[in-house]
Amino acid sequence: MSWGVTIVDHDSHSIDWTRRENDVREWGHGRKVWDHVPHAPVTIADKVWIGFSVSVLKGVTIEEGAVIGACSVVTRDIPPYSLAVGNPARVIRTLRSEACPDLEV
Ligand SMILES: CC(C)(COP(=O)(O)OP(=O)(O)OC[C@H]1O[C@@H](n2cnc3c(N)ncnc32)[C@H](O)[C@@H]1OP(=O)(O)O)[C@@H](O)C(=O)NCCC(=O)NCCS
Repeated sequence: MSWGVTIVDHDSHSIDWTRRENDVREWGHGRKVWDHVPHAPVTIADKVWIGFSVSVLKGVTIEEGAVIGACSVVTRDIPPYSLAVGNPARVIRTLRSEACPDLEV
């Protein structure tokens, strides 16, 4: 994992303003209501390479051996041994691997 990678398994706030209008005020008092904040686990498998300044958002699984190009925003699952780039990150290539000899570039 390179520098500046951000991984978040929640949205921090609701996209409905009526449900987030008091967030910062409450935070100042040491409270945080998470009931309306979407969240989902992030899974990053072995042999993954994540470039610099990549963001990985909630609920994403990056499968084994995948590579994420610098500055990408990963919003959906990335399949194994694939190269994904951009915002939102899209697979642009399949990567050859000894673990998956049937996969070709
Ligand atoms: C992921 C990476 C290694 C791929 O390199 P590559 O295989 O040489 O890829 P290419 O340069 O051939 O790019 C292929 C296409 O993807 C695009 N692309 C590559 N990286 C991109 C990125 N991070 N974001 C958006 N598009 C990208 C290229 O513009 C090119 O598009 P085109 O076919 O329309 O011209 C490289 O893009 C990268 O991100 N390098 C930085 C790695 C890093 O973070 N290092 C820090 C130390 S760990």
